[in-house]
Amino acid sequence: MLNYFKQATEQLKRENRYREFVNISRICGEFPRAINNKNGKKITVWCSNDYLGMGQNPAAIDEAVKALKCYGVGSGGTRNISGTNFPLTELEQEVADLHRKEAALVFVSGYVANDATIQTLAKIIPNLIIFSDEKNHASIISGIRNSKLEKHIFRHNDIADLEKLLAQHSKSQPKIIITESVFSMDGDFGKISEIVDLAKKYSALTYVDEVHGVGLYGKSGAGLCEELGLANEVDIIQGTFAKAFGTIGGYIAGKSEIIDAIRSIASGFIFTTSLPPVVAAATISNIRHLKKSEIEREEMKKNVARLKSQLKKSGIKIAENNSHIVSVKIGDAAKAKAISQRLLDEFNIYVQHINFPTVARGDERLRITVTPLHSEGMIVELVKSLTICL
Ligand SMILES: Cc1ncc(COP(=O)(O)O)c(C=O)c1O
Repeated sequence: MLNYFKQATEQLKRENRYREFVNISRICGEFPRAINNKNGKKITVWCSNDYLGMGQNPAAIDEAVKALKCYGVGSGGTRNISGTNFPLTELEQEVADLHRKEAALVFVSGYVANDATIQTLAKIIPNLIIFSDEKNHASIISGIRNSKLEKHIFRHNDIADLEKLLAQHSKSQPKIIITESVFSMDGDFGKISEIVDLAKKYSALTYVDEVHGVGLYGKSGAGLCEELGLANEVDIIQGTFAKAFGTIGGYIAGKSEIIDAIRSIASGFIFTTSLPPVVAAATISNIRHLKKSEIEREEMKKNVARLKSQLKKSGIKIAENNSHIVSVKIGDAAKAKAISQRLLDEFNIYVQHINFPTVARGDERLRITVTPLHSEGMIVELVKSLTICL
């Protein structure tokens, strides 16, 4: 039987898809520096989704320490059996307030929030039809598959294609359109405004994954829907605490009827241990901070512009977008891996290469994230090193 496992990994190795994780120790207070645990050298991390460095926010750390001392390490149970605690319910109120929605529900991760919510829709609206962007995240795809509902995948950001598919069904048939606000690999924005219009025309619900938008866009960091003034028009907003908010956990926000039904039925919400109070306390602190403070968002935008312009000046091609994601297309799995390795070994720069199935074959790339805490000197160093390695 072991042969099956060996063959599976050998196949991955042949396709340059075998994953070797880079083991690092982040250094609290020195973000974005870390230690490469392979050789003990100090490196600069250029691929973290801790987009604003909030994972090391001193105020959040203080709140976490207080919560740890007060409640201990774990939550002690599922939401239904002793795992509902004060910081967690406060966090749900904070998230609902952030998105100006009636209610919110916290899951153990953004992945689980998507997977559990979308599959549960089938139990609530059995003849629902799902319309999903072809570039939606694996967690959305998993939720759709697990729902076993009728589905239509529209071409990426192609509103005409979406409308063609919607028009094939009667207006009375329940429908939901699912997209992302910021697509994580190319960094392009979902066409939320057009989707909201179509949803009204064809009486569909709307679901927007704001995982790469929350904390970063909008006046109070509620995401791209807030920035576009569309949060009110979207029925379910899904997000994560694991990127710009610097901790872990995922959520959905919407009308209380929707949230209450998902809360009561979703297996991925009910049958798993809840987030510990320490995580909830730190997350509340970071959400509250980013609701009021715009300095992190502004500094990040400046650094993104700086990096993009220096890469372009050096002749390095990047995916065109208006977001914070900087994608250097390589187009070959082995090459992407080799460049990433050389950057780490020779220049102490950590940029993870992204291969299939995260992106399509032939679309391999280096995905770079620049935070407010990367210095001008670090940006110059990255561009220089990339120029040598590419
Ligand atoms: C678009 C999108 N949705 C959902 C997730 C899952 O979020 P989490 O990391 O909180 O599980 C990710 C993860 O990177 C993502 O990119």
